[in-house]
Amino acid sequence: MTDPKKLFVKTYGCQMNVYDSERMAEAMGAEGYVLTELAEDADLVLLNTCHIREKASEKLYSDLGRLKPLKTERPGLKIGVAGCVAQAEGEEILRRMPLVDLVVGPQAYHRLPEMVRAKGRAIDTEFPAEDKFDHLPQRRALRGPTAFLTVQEGCDKFCAFCVVPYTRGTEVSRPPARLLAEARDLVARGVREITLLGQNVNAYHGEGDGGTWGLGRLIREMAAIPGLDRLRYTTSHPNDMGDDLIAAHAEVPELMPYLHLPVQSGSDRILKAMNRKHTAATYLDLVGRIRAARPDILLTSDFIVGFPGETDADFQATVDLVRAVGFGAAFSFRYSARPGTPAAEKPPVPAALADERLQVLQALITEQQHAAQRAMIGREVAVLYEKPGRLPGQMVGKSQHLMAVHVADPTGRPGDLIRARVAASASNSLAAERIRG
Ligand code: SAH
Ligand code: SF4
Ligand code: F3S
Repeated sequence: MTDPKKLFVKTYGCQMNVYDSERMAEAMGAEGYVLTELAEDADLVLLNTCHIREKASEKLYSDLGRLKPLKTERPGLKIGVAGCVAQAEGEEILRRMPLVDLVVGPQAYHRLPEMVRAKGRAIDTEFPAEDKFDHLPQRRALRGPTAFLTVQEGCDKFCAFCVVPYTRGTEVSRPPARLLAEARDLVARGVREITLLGQNVNAYHGEGDGGTWGLGRLIREMAAIPGLDRLRYTTSHPNDMGDDLIAAHAEVPELMPYLHLPVQSGSDRILKAMNRKHTAATYLDLVGRIRAARPDILLTSDFIVGFPGETDADFQATVDLVRAVGFGAAFSFRYSARPGTPAAEKPPVPAALADERLQVLQALITEQQHAAQRAMIGREVAVLYEKPGRLPGQMVGKSQHLMAVHVADPTGRPGDLIRARVAASASNSLAAERIRG
């Protein structure tokens, strides 16, 4: 018997890429490939890339540079580029990087196995009408207690700074029947918590029994699957946060009290220039309605600092909004001009000024995160163990609010859902003691 072929996958960017990488690995598994942690051992290297900011897409070229000696040593090694840089710069990658054998865009992954089998170089960055996931074989092996499940892909919003509508295409929702079947399958393989994914996940509109389902209905039906204890979803746009979805937060116990709701800026002038189609006031009103439905919900967000034209007053409006909401955590980024997006045409804010604002915002967010963590001390939390911790006998998992929690529990196993009392807050996690009985 010959050794199985080995596949090395590196994933950059968002959770959807994580899900796609898993599905590509499963598809190549059906072709006889097993996963390896070492690019040096691999027969096929797949780089699943992100185009969202300049730094993210530059990583591809530096990683390809590092693979060059491997390819020279073993010309039989195949190197594939997938993901959003593949979609945006596929032809250029093939031209600039002779070591790349195949380029496959996010909507063409069902073609990956045949592209790998083919001799010579190949590129596919089409947006076909079919659902790529229908044609990707699935593995039946057991897996960890948490999983991602893509329910919706693409975006029609065209925020002025963002490449996603170009790299992932227009909004497409997968049919509920298929998603429920996939969720049942995940649960049968050991999954207890599913995070529903979409670039605009709350714009979900799948054709199912009785017409079009929104995300609220999908969540209600999925929550009824026996053995599925927890549901989350990400990422949401404020304008698609419908009443039924908000009500689901009040009514569905399996839906965790956590919501990532990117706002980007607190200045109406900048929000308008960003083409966000919401204002600071409509966002705050929405936050009020969500908190009325689920008072203990933890909100997180994304911010862009230094968008073209941002003044000190605009930035102050962002700081004011952060203070008004009180977030549990947030990502904040310095604006990065992306080729082909409308905002890239405008004169930039000086880098040093943008960095200064970013530091101010990040300090405020960290302060809020620590306050949210400290507020948990003494409270009971439910923890779904994911893996052993660094210390002997320790387990790590997530609370309902997606906070990392360490528990000393020598008999604990990944997949256990336990109760614990929070004893202390560290910089990015909580320490808790297990409550027995
Ligand atoms: N679909 C999601 C997330 C998109 S990307 C949404 O609509 O919120 C994740 C985050 O990256 C965005 O929320 C935004 O804050 C940031 N981002 C996107 N484009 C960017 C750019 N050109 N420069 C800096 N940050 C950007
Ligand atoms: Fe990008 Fe805006 Fe779409 Fe989010 S809503 S993916 S930020 S265009
Ligand atoms: Fe990056 Fe594409 Fe996700 S650009 S953030 S990998 S959708």
